[in-house]
Amino acid sequence: MSKKIESVNYGLEKIFEGAQDFLPLLGTDYVEFYVGNAKQAAHFYKIAFGFQSFAYSGLETGAKDAVSYVLTQDKIKLILTTPLNSKSPINDHIVKHGDGVKVIALWVEDARKAYKETTSRGAKSYMEPTVEKDEFGEVVRSGIYTYGETVHLFVERKNYNGTFLPGFQKWESAYNPPTAGLKYIDHMVGNVGWNQMDVWVKWYEEVMGFENFLSFDDKQIHTEYSALMSKVMSNGNGRIKFPINEPAKGKKRSQIEEYLDFYEGAGVQHIAVATDDILKTVSQLRANGVEFLSTPPDDYYKSVPGRLLQFSHELNEDIEKLKALGIMIDADEEGYLLQIFTKPVEDRPTLFFEIIQRMGAKGFGAGNFKALFESIEREQQKRGTL
Ligand code: FE2
Repeated sequence: MSKKIESVNYGLEKIFEGAQDFLPLLGTDYVEFYVGNAKQAAHFYKIAFGFQSFAYSGLETGAKDAVSYVLTQDKIKLILTTPLNSKSPINDHIVKHGDGVKVIALWVEDARKAYKETTSRGAKSYMEPTVEKDEFGEVVRSGIYTYGETVHLFVERKNYNGTFLPGFQKWESAYNPPTAGLKYIDHMVGNVGWNQMDVWVKWYEEVMGFENFLSFDDKQIHTEYSALMSKVMSNGNGRIKFPINEPAKGKKRSQIEEYLDFYEGAGVQHIAVATDDILKTVSQLRANGVEFLSTPPDDYYKSVPGRLLQFSHELNEDIEKLKALGIMIDADEEGYLLQIFTKPVEDRPTLFFEIIQRMGAKGFGAGNFKALFESIEREQQKRGTL
């Protein structure tokens, strides 16, 4: 008997009952990118991905060294930051890594406690607890380094009523393209170097109190040419999920090695954003000019009904429509998921986005890894980096 599955807000479910959570996380607060030209990048995220103008900090608000644009779409907040002179240390990050994610900010009740708990467990400090105030109240932020030069900031905003953070003003724009139905960050994946995955798995366990709830080895994730390994880390309430990838030996250079070469180190590989209508979202993103990886071959779509049947799930969507948009399908005992991956969103083949709709499934599309990586390899072939 087949089951109809409703779209679920997986981000708010409990995955496991951990021991007492020493680092309770309320959710992702924001993701900050360091980019070469924030003004132009902000326009791209508005027109291409349907983000909305939200807040701004720059010369006009009294900032001297950097300018930041904050964009929002439902629960997602992105900050795009560019230095205003050659002295800013942000330049070093951009010179080395190109445009990329610097900060994964986590929303907490108590930023001082989050800092104390993590640094006392071995985290390297990035920012001691710092209070920022304006007429709308105060925000406390603290921060620690994770893999590469990426950092986690802990943001405590319970005593703040302003638009975003002290120092930011509301960003009113005359140009407001429609949203694309992106709702929240489902997961963010980090790429780390050879033999570093377990080091960071242990770090997330010990320093952040996360648990490893899914693992994939190179026997599960490989193509004819390349392989990688991945372990998924989750916090206690399941709202934050960070898969960590490392390259594995194959005949040719894997996409993880390509990333590490071009990012010049470990960093965020992709940000998965959830929608509850992937057909609509992806149609719109394609019309807006977002570039996706090539559609899997016909054989892939022929095998989908069998895979769903194996778990007695019924596909709510028309498979021909999914195929026409290049959307992939994966299933597990609990349901299925729909997903698609963009090409890198900057010239270095580094960061990309995933669009995901969960229909009960809690996995990450393991059944699609092969088709996905073959598609990436076709791009690597064109770049001469396979
Ligand atoms: Fe993903």
